[in-house]
Amino acid sequence: MTTDILIIGAGIGGLSTGIKLAEARPDLKVTALTKTQEGESNTRYAQGGVAAVWNMEVDSYEKHIADTLDAGDGLCDMEVVEIVVEEGPERVQEIIDWGARFDKKAEHYDLGREGGHSENRILHYKDLTGWEIQRALLAKAEQLPNLEILEHFFAVDLITQHHLGHSITRLTPDIECYGAYALNKQTNEIETILSRITVVATGGAGQVYRNTTNPVIASGDGIAMVYRAKGHLENMEFVQFHPTALYNPAGDNPVFLVSEAVRGFGAILKSRDGEEFMDRYDPRKSLAPRDIVARAIDNEMKLRGEECMFLDCRHLDPEGFRAHFPTILDKCLSIGIDPMKDMIPIVPACHYMCGGIKVDTAGRSSIHRLYACGESTCTGLHGANRLASNSLLEALVFAHRIYEDALPQLEQFSLKEGIPDWNASGTTHPKEMVLITQSLKELKEIMSSYVGIVRSNVRLKRALDRLGLLFRETEELYHSTTISPQLCELRNLITIGYLVTRSASMRHESRGLHYTTDYPELLPFLQRTIL
Ligand code: FAD
Ligand code: SIN
Repeated sequence: MTTDILIIGAGIGGLSTGIKLAEARPDLKVTALTKTQEGESNTRYAQGGVAAVWNMEVDSYEKHIADTLDAGDGLCDMEVVEIVVEEGPERVQEIIDWGARFDKKAEHYDLGREGGHSENRILHYKDLTGWEIQRALLAKAEQLPNLEILEHFFAVDLITQHHLGHSITRLTPDIECYGAYALNKQTNEIETILSRITVVATGGAGQVYRNTTNPVIASGDGIAMVYRAKGHLENMEFVQFHPTALYNPAGDNPVFLVSEAVRGFGAILKSRDGEEFMDRYDPRKSLAPRDIVARAIDNEMKLRGEECMFLDCRHLDPEGFRAHFPTILDKCLSIGIDPMKDMIPIVPACHYMCGGIKVDTAGRSSIHRLYACGESTCTGLHGANRLASNSLLEALVFAHRIYEDALPQLEQFSLKEGIPDWNASGTTHPKEMVLITQSLKELKEIMSSYVGIVRSNVRLKRALDRLGLLFRETEELYHSTTISPQLCELRNLITIGYLVTRSASMRHESRGLHYTTDYPELLPFLQRTIL
C-alpha cells in the first residue's frame, strides 16, 4: 500500500493533522490508521475540556503561561509553553469553525476551572468534551475524499534503513522512516505501508498500570515503535495520576473519571470522617496541581488504612451539577451513589504520559521523515507535570505546526523502493492466550506496586529485575508466534514499563510527578532525561 502521508492514530492529534494536510492539498493521499474503530481513542473520553485564554478582560497569556510553568515544576520548555498558549486560541477557533460545540452562558463561552489554573479558561461540552471533539473531527474528515481512515489497522513497526539490512543504533545520525508495517485485523495479513512522510499520533500508555482512566487502546504503541526504531524519547518518568477516579470495588478497566472540573465547580476533597485534609498540603486545597493532590490522597489513604478518599458535592446546586456533569451523575447513580446525598468515593489512577517521543517545535522527531503529535510526544510543554486540560490544546497546536512544516518539504521525499514484505516465516499460531494475559497482569502489578505515585531505589530495582524476565519471555513468544494485537500490545507495554522505570531510576531528586523517598528534595539545576 502506498500513500503520500501516513498518520498512525485518529484521535485529536492524528485527525487534526490529517484534516489540515488533506484540505490544503487535495492532490495528496492522506491515510490515517486506527487500531480499533474510528471513534475509540483517549480523546473520546476527555471530560474537563480545552484550556485556552478566551476572556482577555480577566485572563491573559502571561497568566496561562505562569500556571503551566508552575505545574511543570521547573522542567517546561519556555519557548514551547509560549507557543502553545499563544497559538492555542486560534487552533480552538478552528475546530469550532469545523463544527465542535462548547457550552455557552448567554452569548459567551461558559469557561470552567480546574486544578492549577488561576482563571476560568476551560472550554467544555458538558462532561463530554472529548466525545464532541472526536465527533466534529470525524465529521470534518468525512468531507475530505483524499483523507482515508483505515479502521482495525494495527501498526506494528516503523520501517527504516534497518529493514534494508543496515545496522542502526541510537547514535546513527540519519535514520529515515519510510512508512510502517501494519496488521490488517480483518485479513490477518501484515501490510507494508510506504509513505513519503509519517506522523505518529498513537496517544498514551495508561494501560501499563492496574488502575487507569485510559481506554484499553492506550498501550504506548507509538512510543515503543519509535524506541525500537532508535528514535529519541524524553521524560518518561513523569506519569500523571489523576487524583479523582471513581472508586468501584467491583473493578473497572478503565476506571471512570470524575473530572477535575467537578472540583472547579466547588466540590471538596474529604476523608471518610469529613476532614478537608488538603488544607494541610497546599493553600490551593482541592484545586492544587494534580501531582500535589494525588500524592496527598495517596498519603492519606496509607496513613488511615483506607481504600479511597471522598469528593463532597452535597453542598452544590443540584440543577447546575446535573447540567454540567450529566455523565458523571449517571455513572455514580448506576453504582448506588447519589452525589447530592452521598460523598463520591475516589482514588488516584494513572491518567497521562508527560514524557514520550522527543519532538522539536515543528513536531519533528529525531528520525527523518517522522513527525509526532499528541500524548505520544514530549514537546516540552508539560515539564514534570501537565496542567489540566493543556493536552488537547497541545495536540491541536502541534498538528498545525506539523502541517506547516511538512507540506513544503514533501516534494523532496519519494516512496522508498526495495522494502521487503514482513517476514513471518518460522512462526506458528499461539497455543495459549494465558501466556499473554497473565504477563499483562504481572506487568500492571509490578508497575502499580513499585513505580506508582511514590517510588524508592529498592522498588525501582525490583521492578527492573521483574520487567527483565517479562521482557525475555515476551520476546521469545514474539519471535516464535504469529503476530496478534494482544501480543504486540503486551510487548509495547513492557517497553513502556521499562522506559518509565529506567528513567525514574536515573532521576535522583523528587520533582513534579516523580517522587522518591530516597531523594525527597528538588535539585536546584534543571535536567531532562533523554533515552
Ligand atoms: P488518542 O486520542 O488516544 O488517539 C490515539 C489513536 O491512535 C487512536 O485512534 C488509536 O486507535 C490509534 N492507535 C494507537 N496505537 C495504534 C497502533 N498500533 N496502530 C494504529 N493505530 C493506533 N486532556 C485534556 O486536555 N482535557 C481533558 O479534559 C482531558 N480529559 C481526559 C479524560 C480522560 C478519561 C482521559 C483518558 C484523558 C483525558 N485527557 C484530557 C487527555 C487527552 O484526552 C489525551 O491526552 C488526548 O486526547 C490524546 O490525543 P491523541 O490524539 O494523542 O491520542
Ligand atoms: C479532567 O476532566 O479532570 C481531565 C482533564 C485533563 O486530564 O486535562
